[in-house]
Amino acid sequence: MLASSLLIGLLGMLLPSLTLGKPMRRAMQPSVGFTLVGPASPDTVLSLRISLVQNNYTGLIDALYDVSTPFSANYGAYLSKEQVGAYMAPAAESTSAVNTWLSENGLQARNISGAGDWLSVQIPVSTANDLLDANFSTVRRLAYSIPLDFADHIDLIHPTVSFPNAYGHVPALQTSFSSTPVENADTGPCNISLVTPTCLQWLYGIPATPATSHGNGLIVSGLVEDWPQEADLKAFLTEYRPDMDPATAWTLVSLDNGTDPQEAEDAGMKANLDVQYTMGIATDVPVTFITAGNDDNPTSDKFAEVILDTATYILGLPSPPQVITTSYGDDEDNVSEKLSNKLCSALAALGARGISVIWISGDGGVSGLHWPEETCTTFIPTFPSGCPYLTSVGGTYLIPEQAVNFSSGGFSNYFARPAYQDAAYLDYLGDTNAGLFNSTGRAYPDVAAYASHFAYINAGEETPGSGTSAAAPLFASVISLLNDELLAAGRSPLGFLNPWLYSTGISALNDITVGNNYACSDFTTGFNASAGWDPVTGLGTPNYPKLKAALGL
Ligand SMILES: *[C@@H]1O[C@H](CO)[C@@H](O)[C@H](O)[C@H]1NC(C)=O
Ligand SMILES: *[C@@H]1O[C@H](CO)[C@@H](O)[C@H](O)[C@H]1NC(C)=O
Ligand SMILES: *[C@@H]1O[C@H](CO)[C@@H](O)[C@H](O)[C@H]1NC(C)=O
Ligand SMILES: *[C@@H]1O[C@H](CO)[C@@H](O)[C@H](O)[C@H]1NC(C)=O
Ligand SMILES: *[C@@H]1O[C@H](CO)[C@@H](O)[C@H](O)[C@H]1NC(C)=O
Ligand SMILES: *[C@@H]1O[C@H](CO)[C@@H](O)[C@H](O)[C@H]1NC(C)=O
Ligand SMILES: *[C@@H]1O[C@H](CO)[C@@H](O)[C@H](O)[C@H]1NC(C)=O
Ligand SMILES: *[C@@H]1O[C@H](CO)[C@@H](O)[C@H](O)[C@H]1NC(C)=O
Ligand SMILES: *[C@@H]1O[C@H](CO)[C@@H](O)[C@H](O)[C@H]1NC(C)=O
Repeated sequence: MLASSLLIGLLGMLLPSLTLGKPMRRAMQPSVGFTLVGPASPDTVLSLRISLVQNNYTGLIDALYDVSTPFSANYGAYLSKEQVGAYMAPAAESTSAVNTWLSENGLQARNISGAGDWLSVQIPVSTANDLLDANFSTVRRLAYSIPLDFADHIDLIHPTVSFPNAYGHVPALQTSFSSTPVENADTGPCNISLVTPTCLQWLYGIPATPATSHGNGLIVSGLVEDWPQEADLKAFLTEYRPDMDPATAWTLVSLDNGTDPQEAEDAGMKANLDVQYTMGIATDVPVTFITAGNDDNPTSDKFAEVILDTATYILGLPSPPQVITTSYGDDEDNVSEKLSNKLCSALAALGARGISVIWISGDGGVSGLHWPEETCTTFIPTFPSGCPYLTSVGGTYLIPEQAVNFSSGGFSNYFARPAYQDAAYLDYLGDTNAGLFNSTGRAYPDVAAYASHFAYINAGEETPGSGTSAAAPLFASVISLLNDELLAAGRSPLGFLNPWLYSTGISALNDITVGNNYACSDFTTGFNASAGWDPVTGLGTPNYPKLKAALGL
């Protein structure tokens, strides 16, 4: 595992070979650092990313709501690459001030985003220490400053404020989890010990007929070294979708020299589950798998960079796929607030382009992404579910469906409650768990989907997998099939879903009212599922025929 911290002594080793002049010092503005763990190679040159202040962030958010809110005059009139880029671009004086500052110090930045709001710079540790007034020699805690006269231009510098994990955080697929069938329930073709595409199609009324609309697409974003396998998909389709062409394949997009090796030992459980439950549900919707490598910055974590590089790639496409699903995350407090804001703004930009951004809520109940490895004294929200511009998916199990206890849900400490959540749905919580969560924060999940005992094939073996990592691709597939029908009718795809889900869409979801999520080890329960929205299953699970009807299809 790589981390961005550097070892004590490194400074002394690098200094003699430095040819750069002493950087000019400027007034420094203190900034809080972040805990970093892990070794770093002593001869490393840092690759820093500098985030420039976007010239019109509020304009971007206004434009996002304008095109995503039903009954708005511009509903569905999504923005072009150039229109979104115009909001995200830094002011010309920001770009030139920062470039001048860097060149005064013998450094040259590379523009790494279409909008020009992220720069990358290769920088020796000693120079970085001086320039940022940082202390790269500490292993566990790092502080840095941004020069005072740059505060108007620079949001943050990454990875000096960063995550401690190189590969992002994936909730482990739960396999030991058992569930006892509800007596006398109509379970149709389902066996709740091994849930198949046929079962899920029956449960939610999802059509098995192939999508046909030209230009429709779904992106599965992968983590570093989490690789989907062609042979596993073929075996899966042969067994569970005999009506489909078993040779149906995803399109691979590689970022930062990412790969997708196909030896049995390369099988990625998460990636396999994701491609099998998008391609196996969103019949014939073209699926793109994004694989990210670790080349760009071997000294840094990749989690934030994969999110950013994925967003940058998609924003650069003239006609991007309309749905993206992601099955990894982190605890919110493991991500700096500045970095959270910046990554969230990239997701808002995707929404403005007409893309539905779908994410897992996490598998830790109210105690973060994981359980039971993590315990807490106050509830830990997950990242990026606190970002209001994505659709966060929690989990259910059993038939009839109940909330599954690992389903993460709660309230962000970084992002305030968005207007689409203003309805008085919090009333029922009363004083329950008061003081353990931030009731003014953006609440999540928004929706839920079945999340237990999915039959999938990994390295040639059939395994049941449970987790919100199963629910998110399933929900994304439902949206892709609805988009197929909208496009066939000459209409716009759904785009950023939440303003629609919390208004018109709400009655087209199955409200989940039974079950709860588990809490920190000190408490008995987290939140209960209840009538209407709740912080376990959101507004509920998809009902395809009702969603179609709500769209007038
Ligand atoms: C930001 O965008 C909004 C909406 O397009 C526009 O009305 C406003 O003038 C823009 N502000 C700036 C500073 O460009
Ligand atoms: C950054 O690069 C993009 C092309 O990738 C270009 O369109 C944009 O103008 C550049 N921005 C700056 C500030 O150089
Ligand atoms: C930098 O880190 C070193 C070693 O961890 C520590 O001894 C030193 O006090 C730190 N300096 C500052 C200015 O924080
Ligand atoms: C349900 O699936 C489990 C696990 O694969 C299997 O043991 C059981 O026989 C199946 N039940 C039925 C009724 O098919
Ligand atoms: C990808 O690999 C090539 C050749 O190994 C290297 O030159 C290039 O810098 C790499 N690109 C990235 C983004 O890491
Ligand atoms: C968040 O960071 C803490 C401390 O480094 C770590 O124990 C925890 O596992 C991290 N959370 C996740 C989801 O990885
Ligand atoms: C979560 O629910 C499952 C299925 O009912 C049960 O086996 C497990 O013990 C529960 N876990 C906790 C921590 O309550
Ligand atoms: C609670 O959330 C709000 C945003 O809604 C934030 O401003 C505030 O700092 C949060 N409080 C804590 C204690 O995190
Ligand atoms: C959840 O519901 C149970 C049973 O109705 C109740 O005893 C418990 O207090 C509720 N817990 C919360 C956190 O609302």
